[in-house]
Amino acid sequence: MSLLAELTHRCPLSCPYCSNPLTLDAPAGELSTAEWCDLFDQAAALGVLQLHLSGGEPMARRDLPALVSHAARAGLYTNLITSGVHLTADRARELAAAGLDHLQLSFQHADAAEADRIGGMRGAHGRKLEAAAHARAAGIPLTVNLVVHRQNIGAIAAVAAMAAALGAGRLEVAHVQYYGWGLLNRASLLPDAAELAAATAAVEAARAAHAGRMLIDYVTPDYHADRPKPCMGGWGRRFLNITPSGRALPCHAAETIPGLDFPSVRDQALAAIWRDDPAFHRFRGTEWMPDTCRSCDRRELDWGGCRCQALALAGDAAAMDPVCGRSDRHHVVRAAVADRPGLPPPFRYRQAPGRVAAGG
Ligand code: FES
Repeated sequence: MSLLAELTHRCPLSCPYCSNPLTLDAPAGELSTAEWCDLFDQAAALGVLQLHLSGGEPMARRDLPALVSHAARAGLYTNLITSGVHLTADRARELAAAGLDHLQLSFQHADAAEADRIGGMRGAHGRKLEAAAHARAAGIPLTVNLVVHRQNIGAIAAVAAMAAALGAGRLEVAHVQYYGWGLLNRASLLPDAAELAAATAAVEAARAAHAGRMLIDYVTPDYHADRPKPCMGGWGRRFLNITPSGRALPCHAAETIPGLDFPSVRDQALAAIWRDDPAFHRFRGTEWMPDTCRSCDRRELDWGGCRCQALALAGDAAAMDPVCGRSDRHHVVRAAVADRPGLPPPFRYRQAPGRVAAGG
């Protein structure tokens, strides 16, 4: 099992595909150091092996080294998912000493001006390059992450070369997932079939060019598929997301689903939530599935796909995932690709609650 701890929704970047919800948690409501540490102990006892420390920008939490140290002592594998803009040499050494196992550093492009435009922060790219050097100097294993979309899809080869030069052992090229901010900006982000084919070819070429030195993972976009992905490995099967204020979710977008009430780790033990909470049972297993899914021989491979996508595209979280070619709403996915505007509209950047800025 793995647990994604969204330590804070604060972030100096404004990426228009951010996986955080449109309504962000306020800093005042964030779990305290002691509450996170207690949760990490509970997670380890529950069988969680991997702890992903994320945000927002998790380095906005001044207590991050203490959190890493506690999680490491609890026996959790700690992975820090960061933009890197706050990672100085001192903080990298501090995190390494605390026991951080791995660092995943996000990039928006290989070109500094384009990267800063996409992330909505001037100077961010240069600070990310420095962060990578600090992480490697501190001996922390490094993955470079590129969230790919129509506005940076031609940069895969250049980002792969940059990641290799930075000493990354792994590059993750992940197409945007269209929830929340990504869905809001879909027309600005969604690649067409020719762009996707070129991107896939670029990934294959980069794998060959960097074979034996850097592993390259590739996450393809749902909208060009006709079989759904096993989102989160199946609802409530092996993944937990904890929001900054302590709500426990089976996936990062679950709160978009109406009628589900997600519990807080401030009120209940994590084991009880995992075992008994009705929201974690709602789409667990195969019993909830529509007949077409329940009789499909892929039902325990894709677990019915993504519930949040079914809600976003079919208006019903219990419906078949429209990405599936057997769904009677599959045409909605095809139409989103076919109707993509020729020129991408301006980004609507991620902002604090109540503010959605245009630009880019
Ligand atoms: Fe919620 Fe896929 S993101 S089930």
